[in-house]
Amino acid sequence: MEFISDNTRSIQYSKIRKMFNKALEYEHTINFTIGEPDFVASENVAKAACQAVAEGKSKYSENAGILPLREAISGYLQRELGQKYDPVTEITVTPGAMAALYQGLKVILNPEDEVIVIEPCWTNYLQQILMCGGVPVSVSADAEKGFSLDVSAIRKAITKKTKAIIINSPCNPTGAVLEKEELKQLAALAQEFDLLVISDEVYKHILFDDASFFSIATLPGMRERTLVVDSFSKTFAMTGFRVGYAAGPSEIIGNMTKLQENISACVAMPSQYAALEALSGGTEHLQYMVKCYKERRDYLAERLSAMPLVSWLPSKGTFYAFVSVRDTGFSSEEFAMKLLEEKQVVVVPGDAFGEYGEGYIRISFATSMEQLEKGMDAMESFLKQIAGAGVH
Ligand SMILES: Cc1ncc(COP(=O)(O)O)c(C=O)c1O
Repeated sequence: MEFISDNTRSIQYSKIRKMFNKALEYEHTINFTIGEPDFVASENVAKAACQAVAEGKSKYSENAGILPLREAISGYLQRELGQKYDPVTEITVTPGAMAALYQGLKVILNPEDEVIVIEPCWTNYLQQILMCGGVPVSVSADAEKGFSLDVSAIRKAITKKTKAIIINSPCNPTGAVLEKEELKQLAALAQEFDLLVISDEVYKHILFDDASFFSIATLPGMRERTLVVDSFSKTFAMTGFRVGYAAGPSEIIGNMTKLQENISACVAMPSQYAALEALSGGTEHLQYMVKCYKERRDYLAERLSAMPLVSWLPSKGTFYAFVSVRDTGFSSEEFAMKLLEEKQVVVVPGDAFGEYGEGYIRISFATSMEQLEKGMDAMESFLKQIAGAGVH
């Protein structure tokens, strides 16, 4: 008997994991692969979780999450997006944004339905679409224009089977932030072809300089065809609490909650109380983290601009740098492997984020300045070696 289904067999481990495993062969590495804040949740948030446990708030909750949390999310969205979502029918709390995305896709996809993803992208989108029986259709972002949307390429990719488009701004891995004008064009396309937009907004608070976040859900005619997905993981450094949510049309949200009843039942109740506290508390912790990320981004910009054979347009948001290594003559994977072998610096090859990520590496700067300094010294010496040897 073959126990593993064809569908499961079609799902691939991510290349990030491959780098991770390779890095385990070395005793000491400088690791720039981590996709989570190097900060922990603020004290009030941690205390709220502990207090919930102490008070016996450690049972199953409603599948959509405790109502006070959904009400707080509704208030937060009203403040952030200027848009009201009904906490009872239009918001569901999920184990991270990951589950919101998966349940959202599961709700909308029939076998062979197509979903457009803008690459380079967080590859879990591709795997999740496949897990739901759908077909991911990749469209390249416009790398020449700072990884902005190529709306005419998206138009060309639409077929009768296209059901949805996933966007992610600020973007993991490119650090690009979509402009209102691009989103307006995408919104017009979604309306013309009657498509749903899944807007992954998990990095919306990690912005630099004059970059500002804009949600496509707030454009005229888009509220009813946008599923907003957000998370407490990055904004509040709460990755391990596993709290995310989706806000959108009640029919989709209701069906997502129905599926959640059969998957995880609900988010762990103490985590929900921690999330409630995160929304009720101040923003000092977030401001501090963003200040640190910005210092590190500026440091990377200074160091990388002085290195041969690499180029980078500094990220407008997130804690990732997506750096071109094309001029080295190596593929993304070759470059990442050689950097690991020779200098024990671990980065993610760009093709881990889809074929259009080839020619780049992703460096996560959710790590200490000390690590960044060491890593940049090592990378500089590696690049000078290559440049000197004329390998490229
Ligand atoms: C673009 C993007 N979306 C969603 C997630 C999932 O976040 P979580 O499930 O922790 O909320 C991540 C995590 O790295 C991400 O990078």
